[in-house]
Amino acid sequence: MADIEKRVLGKSGIEVTKIGVGLWAIGGTEWGETDDQESLDMISAALEMGINFFDTADIYGDGHSETLLGRAMKGRRDRFIVASKIGWKGFDDEKGVSAYDTVDKLVAGVESSLDRLQTDHLDLIQCHIDFKEPNMAVFVEGFQKLQAQGKVRAYGVSTSDFAYLQDFNADNKTATLQIDYSILNRTPEAEIFPYTLAHNIGVLARGPLAMGILTGKFSADSEFGEGDFRRNWIENPDENRIYLNDLGKVEKLKPLAEGRSLAQLAIQFVMQHPAVTVAIPGAKRISQLKENVKAALLPDLTADEMAAIDAITPPGGGRKIWPA
Ligand SMILES: NC(=O)c1ccc[n+]([C@@H]2O[C@H](COP(=O)([O-])OP(=O)(O)OC[C@H]3O[C@@H](n4cnc5c(N)ncnc54)[C@H](OP(=O)(O)O)[C@@H]3O)[C@@H](O)[C@H]2O)c1
Repeated sequence: MADIEKRVLGKSGIEVTKIGVGLWAIGGTEWGETDDQESLDMISAALEMGINFFDTADIYGDGHSETLLGRAMKGRRDRFIVASKIGWKGFDDEKGVSAYDTVDKLVAGVESSLDRLQTDHLDLIQCHIDFKEPNMAVFVEGFQKLQAQGKVRAYGVSTSDFAYLQDFNADNKTATLQIDYSILNRTPEAEIFPYTLAHNIGVLARGPLAMGILTGKFSADSEFGEGDFRRNWIENPDENRIYLNDLGKVEKLKPLAEGRSLAQLAIQFVMQHPAVTVAIPGAKRISQLKENVKAALLPDLTADEMAAIDAITPPGGGRKIWPA
C-alpha cells in the first residue's frame, strides 16, 4: 500500500497521518456493545495500513478505550501518536462546572490516563469541555505544567465555540483544535478555520461521517441498539427532523460517490480543507477502518465535485454539531 501523507500538527511539530482513528466507539458503551479483541485487531490493522494517529478520552467507556489502546501499544509505543482528552469525568451538571478546579487535580487526572495507557507521556492532551467554564485557566496552567514535566508533548482544546477557542489560546500556545466538521456541518469554515490557519493551530476533524449518516447506510426507519445514543435520532422528534433532513442531503450526495464509497467521499472532503490536519473517523470494525483509510489514497476531489457538494451544503453552512 502507498504511504499515507503526513502533516505537521500545528505548533506541536508532531507529524501525523492525514487520517487517524477515533476510538470513542471501542469504549463499548455509548455506541453500543463492541468486541475487545476486534477493537485490538482494528488498532493493529490501522498500524499496518500506516496510520500513526489515535484519538481517545478518559471518559470513553469510562476509561476502557484508553485501557484497550494501552494494551495495543505494548512493546511498540513508538509507532503511536496518542491523543487523549480530559474534562467530563465527575462533571457537575447542576453547576455546569468540571471536577478539575485545581492544577493538582488536573495533573492527577492526566496521570490516571497515563496509567491506563501504560505510557509515560501523551503526545497530545486536549481539554474535552467544549464550552467556557470557570476552570478553563486550570486546564491551560495544568497542561503547561504537564508539558514542562515531559508528560505531554502538546496540548489543545475540543470545541466548536469560537470565543472559547480564542480565550483558550489567549497566550497563543494552544497546538490543536478538535472540532466537528463534515459535509453536513461546514460551519467551522466561516470563522474558526481562518483563525486556526492564522495561529498555526492544527485541526483534528471529528465526526467526518456525521456519526455514520454520511456512509449512506441509514434510512428513516433504521433501528439502533440498546445503549446506542443514536436511538434519539428516531425517538426524539426534534432530532428526528434534523436526521431526516440529513438523509435528504445524503441522497443528493450518492451520485457523487461513483468509483468509491460515500464514506470515502465524505472523508476526502474533510481532509482536503487546508485548515484540517487530520480527519479522525471512528470505526468499530476492521472492514470500516479499511474502507475509511483508503480515502487517504484517492486523488483530491475535483473543482466540479466540490461545486456539487457546495450546492448541497454551501461553504460555511449546514447544521452545527448535533446531538452532542
Ligand atoms: N467532544 C469531542 O471531542 C468528541 C465528540 C465526538 C467524537 N470525538 C472523536 O471523534 C471520533 C470520530 O467521531 P464520531 O465517532 O463521532 O463519528 P464519525 O467518525 O462520523 O462516525 C463513526 C461511526 O460511523 C460508523 N462507521 C464508520 N465507518 C464506517 C463505514 N466505513 N461504513 C459504515 N459505517 C461506518 C461506525 O458506527 P456504527 O458501525 O455503529 O454505525 C462508527 O463508530 C470519535 O471516535 C472520537 O475519537 C470527539
